[in-house]
Amino acid sequence: MKALILAGGAGTRLRPITHTRAKQLVPVANKPILHYGIDAMVAAGIEEIGVIVGDTRAEVTSNLGDGTQFGASITYIPQDAPLGLAHCVLIAREFLGDDDFVMYLGDNLLEQDLAAFVRAFEAARAGEEPPAAQILLKQVPDPHRFGIATLDESGGVVALVEKPEDPPSDLALVGVYLFTSRVHDAVAAIEPSPRGELEITDAIQWLLDRGERVRCELLSGWWIDTGKLTPLLEANRLLLEKIETHIEGSIDDASSIEGRVVIGAGTEIVNSTIRGPVAIGAGSRIVDSFVGPFSAIGNDCEVRHSEIEHSVVMDDSSITDIPRLEDSLIGSDARVARSRQKPRALRLMVGDHCQIDVE
Ligand code: TTP
Repeated sequence: MKALILAGGAGTRLRPITHTRAKQLVPVANKPILHYGIDAMVAAGIEEIGVIVGDTRAEVTSNLGDGTQFGASITYIPQDAPLGLAHCVLIAREFLGDDDFVMYLGDNLLEQDLAAFVRAFEAARAGEEPPAAQILLKQVPDPHRFGIATLDESGGVVALVEKPEDPPSDLALVGVYLFTSRVHDAVAAIEPSPRGELEITDAIQWLLDRGERVRCELLSGWWIDTGKLTPLLEANRLLLEKIETHIEGSIDDASSIEGRVVIGAGTEIVNSTIRGPVAIGAGSRIVDSFVGPFSAIGNDCEVRHSEIEHSVVMDDSSITDIPRLEDSLIGSDARVARSRQKPRALRLMVGDHCQIDVE
């Protein structure tokens, strides 16, 4: 079994952050989103991983390297333009060979571990009616926004539709798929959709139309497509919920730490309150400030005379004299500062290398 992780794409919905970085490398709970997917593959026993890369290829390859840090071996597969999820399978043909594989969307996060999902597919493949594919479904309140599956009475997949106006069910396709080599016939046969992409839903429908069996499993834990700000902060919150206290930095006597908090090596907390769950990286300084629940602050940041809550602040950034910063995503090497004292809450999405002076 191999894995194909999709880390190309345009990332238009997370601009300005994605002008300068791959959306899959934005950190949640101080770890890049993409690392969670790779860790999940390795935990499921898959070590041969192909990664589709697009315009942000240089950044993704330098971050992931050859995969040794994850206990995996990574092969990069460049994609000239984001021509669709099925296009990714098409260009990965040589890497995948005739092996079964998991396809994983690099900006998706799942609570549930994937080992059981992979084992269930392997067991079904050895059974009497081996499936050509397996999809993962999750009940959603707003099915018109997703790829939706229709099931028969016995729970078999009979049809898939992309973002239906009149949804046949509330079962959305989660960004994890299992395929056999039969999918290569499908992606070679289908035509681009009206939006110009080779759709994976069309490829799976092609398999169904030819009498192939497609298994499905229902996901019970949370699943987040982090492509936009609100779900990204939600993922940050859900992952911080799980952290255990681990403090390597220093905390002075005038500071207080409440709840579960991770503080990296060399970080100094001075005259401040940290109320968890909070993660702060290494080499940062928090001075005369309050860092509240569900905040993740990266490495080498400075927070001075400010209040932060429910926000992600990436590496090398500073927040100065901000009475309240909430529900915000601050890129790396950004400066957010205020010259005059006017009590006011800020909600920001700040790209890398920016300077924001609040007057
Ligand atoms: P999407 O979120 O569907 O697409 P996108 O990255 O183009 O984002 P936006 O809508 O904000 O412009 O992609 C899901 C994942 O698959 C994401 O990690 C990017 C990746 N992807 C590719 O690698 N190649 C592709 O051709 C497409 C469409 C997506």
